[in-house]
Amino acid sequence: MTTKTATRLVIRGGRPLRGRVTVSGSKNASLYALAAGLLTAEPVTLRRVPAIADIGEMAEVLRSLGADVTIEDETVHIEAREVNGRVPPADQVAALRASFLVMGPLLARFGEAACPPPGGDVIGVRPLDVHLAGFNALGADVRREGQEFVARATRLRGTRIFLDYPSVLGTVNVLFAATLAEGTTTIINAAAEPEVAMAVEMLNLMGAKIAGGGTNVITVDGVEVLHGVDFTVIPDRIEAGTYLLAGVATGGDVEVIGATPDHLDSLITKLREAQVLVEPCEGGLRAARGDRFQAVQLQAVPYPGFATDLHAPMAAALTQASGVSIIHERVFENRLLYVGELRSMGARITTGGQAVMIEGPTPLFGTSVRALDVRAGAAVVLAGLCAEGETTIRDITHIDRGYAHLVERLTALGADVSRE
Ligand code: UD1
Repeated sequence: MTTKTATRLVIRGGRPLRGRVTVSGSKNASLYALAAGLLTAEPVTLRRVPAIADIGEMAEVLRSLGADVTIEDETVHIEAREVNGRVPPADQVAALRASFLVMGPLLARFGEAACPPPGGDVIGVRPLDVHLAGFNALGADVRREGQEFVARATRLRGTRIFLDYPSVLGTVNVLFAATLAEGTTTIINAAAEPEVAMAVEMLNLMGAKIAGGGTNVITVDGVEVLHGVDFTVIPDRIEAGTYLLAGVATGGDVEVIGATPDHLDSLITKLREAQVLVEPCEGGLRAARGDRFQAVQLQAVPYPGFATDLHAPMAAALTQASGVSIIHERVFENRLLYVGELRSMGARITTGGQAVMIEGPTPLFGTSVRALDVRAGAAVVLAGLCAEGETTIRDITHIDRGYAHLVERLTALGADVSRE
């Protein structure tokens, strides 16, 4: 696991990044895959799981329920035989939002699940109504008992469920519950993110009968039992996008191995609109910035639209584009924590409601800034790589939550960056 004790990242900017970098497995998809391990008593092996703090936290959540979880490099083994009747501790669950994904599997397998309210980045209100309404629709009695959300059902029954919002974790949680329900569940307005599609693929290999993963309508024919699996997680499209943007921001030329073009249509399209060369390379994608880098307008929306997790890194890159760029955040209401930090580095950014206006190109200068959440952290890293002089980034545990081997990977691309 990446160390959590190092507190500062120091970047001496101004060097165009060049070369190749290989990304890790998807953070979010790995979290869903770990939770899916609770759906079976048989051993589950997961490969290409990134070496980041969130995975260790999720493993602790599973262990707190009685599951055996071992992590060796990028391989995780899970065996969840006796995991009923326990509740993960509130402080553990508070460490990451994905911990609420224990609810669907426990409810499906044992007819009862309980979990305190989950934590995670402070990027918005982040309610749980989609999860809870989904369990309810499947026939569970869902209530708040003191600190905990509790769901109970003698037998879950498949039904047609419309999700009020295509919540990613909400879709996965309801999907988990539906795999072992009686009859057919149709999830309308499901999240179509590639990580959800991957969860469907994994569940099907475990014996589930699910169609429509990666689309907005997912159909689940409930089965009696799920089996063990040996499964390799998809590459992290957000990490891939961040390295492509690091190359673009610094005026460099970067090949990202593991970047899956089919998962990055919106980013590729916007970068091409900005006059950046983006093309497939062996095993991934290459982005190279020439003399022209033009401002663009975009909205961060659910997949396949522009990813909210790439909003902040994209904004950092666009400080170097000519003209006025506009980003409208439509997923989380508190995604703009990075704006103040980039301003303190010289960026000309104004906000109005959920919209951000970026005037460029602006020379950035190094100063002391904070990583206020994982993607805001990525944004200040990119800004630091462009900036003249030394940028010191505090609170980097946030960055470590999403980016394995960050210093090594940036160094391999020619950046001057270290932990202190
Ligand atoms: C997941 C990802 C996160 C990503 C986000 C959107 C994980 C661990 N995290 O978060 O990196 O930024 O998807 O792609 O996988 N909402 C509701 N009701 C609910 C749940 C959510 O209204 O029950 C709202 C939220 O307030 C927010 C929006 O839906 O405005 C998106 O949230 P959601 O898709 O649930 O994000 P997460 O699954 O938490």
